[in-house]
Amino acid sequence: MLSSALHSGTHELGFKVSRRFLALAEEALLHREPGRFALMYRLLWRLRAQPGLLDDAVDDDVWQATRMAKQVHRDIHKMHAFLRFKEVSSDGETLWLAWFEPDHHILEAASSHFADRFASLKWSIFTPERSVSWTGAALVFGPGASRESVPENDRMDEHWRTYYRSIFNPARLKVAAMTKEMPKKYWRNMPETREIAGLVRAASGRTQTMIAEGITAPSPMTAVEERRRVSAPVPAPGEDPATCARCPIGAMTTQAVYGEGPADARLMIVGEQPGDQEDLAGRPFVGPAGKVLDDALRHANLDRRNAYVTNAVKHFKFEVRGKRRLHKSPSAAEIDHCRWWLNRERAAVKPKLIIALGGSAARGVTGRSFAVGRERGRIIPLVDGAHLLVTVHPSYLLRLPDENARAQETEKFISDLTLARIWLSENAEDNPAHEAARGCDLTSVSG
Ligand code: URA
Repeated sequence: MLSSALHSGTHELGFKVSRRFLALAEEALLHREPGRFALMYRLLWRLRAQPGLLDDAVDDDVWQATRMAKQVHRDIHKMHAFLRFKEVSSDGETLWLAWFEPDHHILEAASSHFADRFASLKWSIFTPERSVSWTGAALVFGPGASRESVPENDRMDEHWRTYYRSIFNPARLKVAAMTKEMPKKYWRNMPETREIAGLVRAASGRTQTMIAEGITAPSPMTAVEERRRVSAPVPAPGEDPATCARCPIGAMTTQAVYGEGPADARLMIVGEQPGDQEDLAGRPFVGPAGKVLDDALRHANLDRRNAYVTNAVKHFKFEVRGKRRLHKSPSAAEIDHCRWWLNRERAAVKPKLIIALGGSAARGVTGRSFAVGRERGRIIPLVDGAHLLVTVHPSYLLRLPDENARAQETEKFISDLTLARIWLSENAEDNPAHEAARGCDLTSVSG
């Protein structure tokens, strides 16, 4: 909106402003400070005479505007991360309601995130100044409300608390950093924070026990586990991907990279396609993306050795640049060509849960295109009785140029993997509390 206003004004003002100014103004103008309009107007006029002004970080106006934009940005991030929906039944319909007290005027800017994430639910967010409801098709904004508009507790609370207990690592406890990242003013709306005091009190004892029992170190692979490892189920004659000629990728590569892991793994992890190092080694996820995946699995307390790890496409697609082979994404048709092999792996291993790393993997599993941003972080039932969790591909994290964004996205990736672990433990054959996992959808609200 701001950008169209300024662009339409370009004619009369007779000068252009950079996208950088627009991005700064879009955020700074949402700040609560009454002087924000005067500040941005002054900056706009000064930019006319000094087009490079925004590079002057010590200029008072630039500094103020940048500070305000950062605070607004952080407020939006906190709302995405710390807002918790409560389930309410009304006229036989399920509604999800949330209360949040933002520091700045961010409701509109923050809402599309929830519309993308919870497109299939009907929800409303109430703040003291304004409210927003998602009808299933559109966002509708209305007046503010009071805290009482949203129930204090619901059946999701216990799930949040379980989730928090399971991701809480006493050995990594840093109370000051934790309260800086999750300031106390948000705690009242977050059921899991009721766990914090007890967990902090017990942390040092638990850490001693972990050290004594060696829980944090991955247990060495036993001979039995080693025997349970399979390269891949035996393909039917003429269908060995090593010689597969259904698409041209196979002809270029060193070898097909088979899936690997226990033949009866409950968890299957599907990537996109082997990379340069995987192609040379003949094993999935042994290169840089594999390292990111291994680290995140470790943080989520999932042991890769218990998972069957494979790819949607079994050959490395690349283009040659000088001496390097650069990854090229497989096309939808290539992923579809390769599905016969992934389907065979699924039929042989019969995983309970499949984690699809990125859109290509999700297409390989489901045969349809997937908007990862919208569908990630929830458990989706599949027709063969397995369940699917879609999340980002670790290479996406490697490609993020901004360190802050990478840290945030890595946390989200770990929280998706943690959800997988919780779901697997709640859906173990010997666990009668399967129903509890039904509420998993909302756990990944956490940013
Ligand atoms: N990326 C993938 O999707 N799979 C691998 O095996 C390696 C990198």
